[in-house]
Amino acid sequence: MIKHLLSAADLDAPTATLIHDIAAEMATVAGREVKKLPTLRGRTVVNLFYEDSTRTRTSFEVAAKRLSADVVNFSAKGSSVEKGESLKDTAWTLQAMGADAVVIRHPASGAPNRLVNWVHGSVLNAGDGTHEHPTQALLDTYTMRSRLGTVAGLNVAIVGDVLHSRVARSNALLLHTLGAKVTLVGPPTLVPPVFETLTPDVRVGYDIDAVLPEADVVMMLRVQKERMNAAFFPSWHEYSRRYGLDAARVRRLPDHAIVMHPGPMNRGVEIAPDVADSPRSTIVEQVANGVSVRMACLYLLLGGRS
Ligand code: CP
Repeated sequence: MIKHLLSAADLDAPTATLIHDIAAEMATVAGREVKKLPTLRGRTVVNLFYEDSTRTRTSFEVAAKRLSADVVNFSAKGSSVEKGESLKDTAWTLQAMGADAVVIRHPASGAPNRLVNWVHGSVLNAGDGTHEHPTQALLDTYTMRSRLGTVAGLNVAIVGDVLHSRVARSNALLLHTLGAKVTLVGPPTLVPPVFETLTPDVRVGYDIDAVLPEADVVMMLRVQKERMNAAFFPSWHEYSRRYGLDAARVRRLPDHAIVMHPGPMNRGVEIAPDVADSPRSTIVEQVANGVSVRMACLYLLLGGRS
């Protein structure tokens, strides 16, 4: 079993499938009166977040607590990072406190890869810059499997701000590993041709309406205003008109197709509110599945099978 989870590329198909299988077992814990397993009793999990998060941080915390680990939540805001303390010195401090695992979110791509040199425990990438978000890809593929029965052979359209999306990158890598076909769709400024080299069979398209009739899954991406240092499209209205998923576009999908979004959403920009709240939408399921999948990851990396 792998020690760290830094990239979706760290996962081969048997390992990803094992995580999905264990997540399905972990999901049964959520239905119990006492939602706890003793698996990680005496182990310490540190959530080290240098960027804002709602879903990822809370679900890692809930996941670790359901496995009976001690959890330390560290936010850069309000810490000595604001006085200029480096990631390395922060890591050494956490190491001195005996962290068995560090879950890190950081604005710099590659920060988790640096961290593995400074701590003895496992490092789990909870999102680094525009690079990767591997547990999001695991929970998204788990959600596809739960809703559609399989991942292999699915046509998955990932639509929107691909350029700034660690979710898109990790999903494209893992979906390829699991045998799905991925089409990245968006304006050319946000889906540059270089993305055609992400995996051997990924496709790039610029016309969402042409892609939807063949899609089993359409995954909408948040437009990441905070990472944009230039005008990537003429106006919000124009972006929404060309690439937003509204009810009319949903009607172009096959009847069985599902609509996904990793959150947080810009309602009314990349996804219409009625679509986000529709029965085809898996957005709330994705959050619930995130707890089960992160329990599976912590179990395997810290306490589980070798
Ligand atoms: N999907 C996701 O990473 O959401 P958060 O930024 O709320 O963690």
